Amino acid sequence: EIVPVLLSGGSGTRLWPLSRADVPKQLQAVAHERTMLQATALRVADGAAPIVVAGDAHRYLVSEQLLGVGVMPAVVILEPEGRNTAPAIALAAQHLAAAGRGAALMLVMPSDHLITDEAAFRAAIATAAAAAADGSLVTFGITPTEAATGYGYIRPVEAAGAVRRVAAFVEKPDAATAEQYLADGYLWNAGIFLFSADAYLAALDGAAPEIAAHVARAVAAGVLDGRFLRPEAAAFAACPSISIDYAVMQTAPHVKVVPVDMGWSDVGSWDALWRVTVPDAEGNVVRGAGTLIGCRDSLVRNENGPFVAALGLDDMIVVSTPDAVMIAPRNRAEDIKLLVDAIHAQG
Ligand code: GDD
Ligand code: MG
Repeated sequence: EIVPVLLSGGSGTRLWPLSRADVPKQLQAVAHERTMLQATALRVADGAAPIVVAGDAHRYLVSEQLLGVGVMPAVVILEPEGRNTAPAIALAAQHLAAAGRGAALMLVMPSDHLITDEAAFRAAIATAAAAAADGSLVTFGITPTEAATGYGYIRPVEAAGAVRRVAAFVEKPDAATAEQYLADGYLWNAGIFLFSADAYLAALDGAAPEIAAHVARAVAAGVLDGRFLRPEAAAFAACPSISIDYAVMQTAPHVKVVPVDMGWSDVGSWDALWRVTVPDAEGNVVRGAGTLIGCRDSLVRNENGPFVAALGLDDMIVVSTPDAVMIAPRNRAEDIKLLVDAIHAQG
């Protein structure tokens, strides 16, 4: 049994002003007509009903979007506040374990990634499921294309093979270390995981026992309201806010990686979106109302904002929304979160 676990948290600040706290990236149609959550749910729609872990504030949007594409979740676990992915995944694992389904395999998926080769993804899932049967935590490895600092890096023990043991997992190394890892043949962590609920809870208990204990209490005292499961708020709030990568994967003893070439992108920034979209003849990616003359290699996007008129832009990003217009060079796309921080600081 493979149970998809869709993570819908985070705010995707680098895709501001499209991505906002009230409608974050994964609940937006960033790359296609469907929202990223819908695309993620449909990718595994032929399997078991998914468990969704989402912020309480987004419960209606999440439910509507899933029902809109015909996906009925098994349960939507509502976080009273985000505590990052280690606790979020623990909620789903504990929910399964409490129902006597601790042996079930969880396919943990971020709800904000693009995968263009779904057949390759499916094949990798089948390989990973077999690899997880011995209680391993299985990751999916992407061949890196640059020394990005926003990803986890994986050093496999074996140089080849469909399933490899993991010698080291390093989350978000600095730029110099990333360069070295690129040269040394490390893989990127796709951020998608496959393991049994029991295996994850055991690894969590070894690496961060306080999270395991708080989440066990939060689920035991949780309230089921139709398909919504509300963990007990105080117990969940006691969890430290930390990702699975830092809390578990860097130190867990039995980790494997399934390398996969599936046209993966985490669309983390406007530049990443420009890179994965087929541009027009001038290299521009344009969506919504606007007129461009003499622009090259730019992303111009109008989401119900003022009409955009652009002349002679090279390598720029322009995003127009009803209440904000953002303009930045494409090579500063990572720094848009600084802009968002500055706006928050101004109140
Ligand atoms: N439910 C819930 N609650 N989901 C969350 C929370 C939370 O508190 N925090 C993050 N998520 C979701 C995000 O929406 C996203 O879909 C996913 O979990 C991963 O979180 P990110 O914040 O996007 O992580 P990251 O991109 O910095 O790093 C992860 O992904 C990389 C690949 O994109 C790591 O796993 C890296 O190792 C990996 O390379
Ligand atoms: Mg991410």
